[in-house]
Amino acid sequence: MGSLNRRSFLKTAAVAGTGIALAPNFLPADSEIKFKRTKPGGKLKIAFIGVGGRGRGHLGSVCQYNDVEIPAICDIDPVAVSKAQEILKDNNRKEATVYTGDEYAFLKMLERDDIDGVIIATPWLWHTRMAVASMKAGKYTGVEVSAANTIEECWDLVNTYEETGVPVMILENVCFAREAMAVLNMVRDGLFGELVHATCGYQHDLRGVKFQPGVEFGKNAKGEARWRTLHSLKRNGDLYPTHGVGPVATWLDINRGNRFVSLSSQATKATGLHHYIVKNPQGGEDHPNAKLKWKLGDIVTTTIKTANEETIVVSHDTNLPRPYSWGFTLHGNEGVWGGDYEGRRIYIEGRSPEHEWETGEAYDKYFKKYDHRIWKEEEKKAEGAGHGGIDYFTIKAFLNSVRNEVPPPLDAYDAAAWSAITPLSEASVASSGAPQFFPDFTRGNWIKNKPVFGI
Ligand SMILES: NC(=O)c1ccc[n+]([C@@H]2O[C@H](COP(=O)([O-])OP(=O)(O)OC[C@H]3O[C@@H](n4cnc5c(N)ncnc54)[C@H](O)[C@@H]3O)[C@@H](O)[C@H]2O)c1
Repeated sequence: MGSLNRRSFLKTAAVAGTGIALAPNFLPADSEIKFKRTKPGGKLKIAFIGVGGRGRGHLGSVCQYNDVEIPAICDIDPVAVSKAQEILKDNNRKEATVYTGDEYAFLKMLERDDIDGVIIATPWLWHTRMAVASMKAGKYTGVEVSAANTIEECWDLVNTYEETGVPVMILENVCFAREAMAVLNMVRDGLFGELVHATCGYQHDLRGVKFQPGVEFGKNAKGEARWRTLHSLKRNGDLYPTHGVGPVATWLDINRGNRFVSLSSQATKATGLHHYIVKNPQGGEDHPNAKLKWKLGDIVTTTIKTANEETIVVSHDTNLPRPYSWGFTLHGNEGVWGGDYEGRRIYIEGRSPEHEWETGEAYDKYFKKYDHRIWKEEEKKAEGAGHGGIDYFTIKAFLNSVRNEVPPPLDAYDAAAWSAITPLSEASVASSGAPQFFPDFTRGNWIKNKPVFGI
């Protein structure tokens, strides 16, 4: 046996028990996926792992589709499970079979042969393990952000996709923001000329999320304070890069003609969480949590360099008082754009008044011209969905991909490259900003892959 054949034989033998249609070799990044629905033409069957705040949001979105059934849900928290069943009931759906009792109950659920797709919305440390198990079980997988915690986990997502041919979609909803998609159209129309630089970030005062109730976190706390806060205590880096970087990656064709090459990160001192604890009426200097030494710098700033020689400055800012922002700007050699929920502005050389931003109604003329087709067509349907409608489009894209057995618009390579920012930024912060290099998760295919998002 030649070495390639021997390798593919061993891989096939290793996963043969899982019942998946297997790729004979590693799939090249642009090959067809191997996923097949359980009953072609029948109703889609979507299961959930994690029905906390986020999972239940997605559950509500999925319930809007008459051709989709939800046969099974998995969560270790009985309260989350009963709230999820309430959502199903309110939407005139059958009760789902529940998988619970221990942290690996999801494996039992994945043994079912009537599930087409799985949506994973659990704490970060579970994402890759669950996504890998779900792909190996032949289920089209949607995983919440970030998708991985370590470089090894990033490779696990890519390797598992290539070995099984079963896709994973990173459910990065900000890519579907109306403004981000309009900017994508502007970019593709050449409005900014050649792109040079972008800024973005996750600038979200999470103090009331990291501590809930009062200044509590950990096992007896509520919601994300049960698991998210520990990351701020133990880790120093950009812990949540994908909301900012996802849309920028679509504008800059990352993994499709371009790629992230290296980054350098610096972190400020960590004052915000301690300050919050001592100032909080339920905390104070004598509260045990006031003695803790938080590792996460209040603002972590990362500069990424791309293969096409753009830079991207990414901000992670979750410990200080501030209004929410993604901090977007995009600079080209013919113009610049900035804004997210608010402060939308543009300057195009030769069109805008010299040295003046176009804002308000002047900006709206650009926006109307470039507003993305999916938003124009389905604005009404998206109304009321989470995060200003973007969750509607995220779930719709996932379900369409499963339904039509096609690759997702945001795939394993996107999940890996974007999530890799976290461990690389930690390594860089720990070494005073020393550059860290991104693995090429596409194995070189970025030079020929074509953009797919929003087309
Ligand atoms: N894209 C977005 O806008 C957005 C918004 C909020 C949260 N999120 C992401 O969604 C994920 C979930 O966040 P959340 O706010 O719902 O958190 P949450 O704590 O409310 O919910 C997590 C759920 O996972 C369950 N869980 C934990 N371990 C499990 C296991 N081993 N098996 C089964 N269930 C398990 C918990 O019991 C809980 O119900 C996180 O990764 C978060 O970053 C994304």
